[in-house]
Amino acid sequence: MAASGEPGRQRQEEAAAVVVVGSCMTDLVSLTPRLPKTGETIHGHKFFIGFGGKGANQCVQAARLGAKTAMVCKVGKDSFGNDYIENFKQNDISTEFTYQTKDAATGTASIIVNKEGQNIIVIVAGANLLLNTDDLREAANAISSAKVMICQLEVTPATSLEALTMARSSGVKTLFNPAPATADLDPRFYTLSDVFCCNETEAEILTGLAVSSPADAKKAALVLLGRGCRVVIVTLGAAGCVFLSQTEPVPKYIPTEKVKAVDTTGAGDSFVGALAFYLAYYPNLSLEEMLKRSSFIATVSVQAAGTQSSYPHKKDLPLYLF
Ligand SMILES: Nc1ncnc2c1ncn2[C@@H]1O[C@H](COP(=O)(O)OP(=O)(O)OP(=O)(O)O)[C@@H](O)[C@H]1O
Ligand SMILES: *[C@@H]1O[C@H](CO)[C@@H](O)[C@H](O)[C@H]1NC(C)=O
Ligand SMILES: *[C@@H]1O[C@H](CO)[C@@H](O)[C@H](O)[C@H]1NC(C)=O
Repeated sequence: MAASGEPGRQRQEEAAAVVVVGSCMTDLVSLTPRLPKTGETIHGHKFFIGFGGKGANQCVQAARLGAKTAMVCKVGKDSFGNDYIENFKQNDISTEFTYQTKDAATGTASIIVNKEGQNIIVIVAGANLLLNTDDLREAANAISSAKVMICQLEVTPATSLEALTMARSSGVKTLFNPAPATADLDPRFYTLSDVFCCNETEAEILTGLAVSSPADAKKAALVLLGRGCRVVIVTLGAAGCVFLSQTEPVPKYIPTEKVKAVDTTGAGDSFVGALAFYLAYYPNLSLEEMLKRSSFIATVSVQAAGTQSSYPHKKDLPLYLF
């Protein structure tokens, strides 16, 4: 294999410890003085393109901490798709199962942000919705040799369910992030989740309970645990997170450090990616310690601008995290 001289080839020899089956989106961001009204054309003062999509974000954070990662996803056969594949390579993520299709455009999120930081967003999931079970079958070896597989809900639920089923049947730990959440989530998502990690809004949608404090989050987490997940985590933004597990079903609260947040976009994905890294590489740490460290990493990410651009690398983090 080494004889091919292709750098991508050598990486295939060592199995990825963290496999993400999920989404890629190109963020098209315009900064404007205010949000336009119907039929109105306004001028913005800045435009930039960013790499996003929950699946890809989580994969990038895990990779930057030093995890061997592979991204199972679908982009268009277009320039955004080509650029996304290049972005994965830059982050040392295996693109062996990053498929390109002619049948849809790469997923995009067109975002307009006004002076107050309020936004309007249009997502066109495009190629993400064409990731299918045939694609998963091609990636079956990578999935079954992983330590941890992560899924979200930005690809079709059928694809996520199949990926979780494949991982579970090979004894691969499943980390499921039900984002964006829907009230009628298929109950199999709970029973297939070793770790079920959601934010306040998602916990509310899934349980019907209001969640705005650690005490509320504990109640919601108990309900979610009752649906069959082995571990439930509810993240609470600047307030940290709560968690509980089938083996220790008493909810615990973990606060975060108080920091000056610059941009919290993608904090939840940084947290999930970091958690996957710890589950894969430090399986003997207590869950509480993994969550403290993941929360610390997410807290670092909110102190820099952008989504993936704010995710820290191992070399920029304190040694005690590793
Ligand atoms: N303002 C903040 N200050 C400190 N830490 C934060 C802040 N916001 C988020 N975090 C960290 O990030 C973790 C995840 O944040 P959050 O619960 O907001 O996820 P999320 O809503 O999925 O994020 P997003 O949708 O913005 O990507 C928190 O548990 C915390 O560790
Ligand atoms: C939770 O995540 C969803 C995306 O699934 C996002 O729309 C929502 O704003 C987040 N909630 C909070 C409180 O950050
Ligand atoms: C975790 O603990 C088990 C049992 O104590 C041990 O066999 C294993 O080597 C440890 N794994 C790591 C990665 O430290």
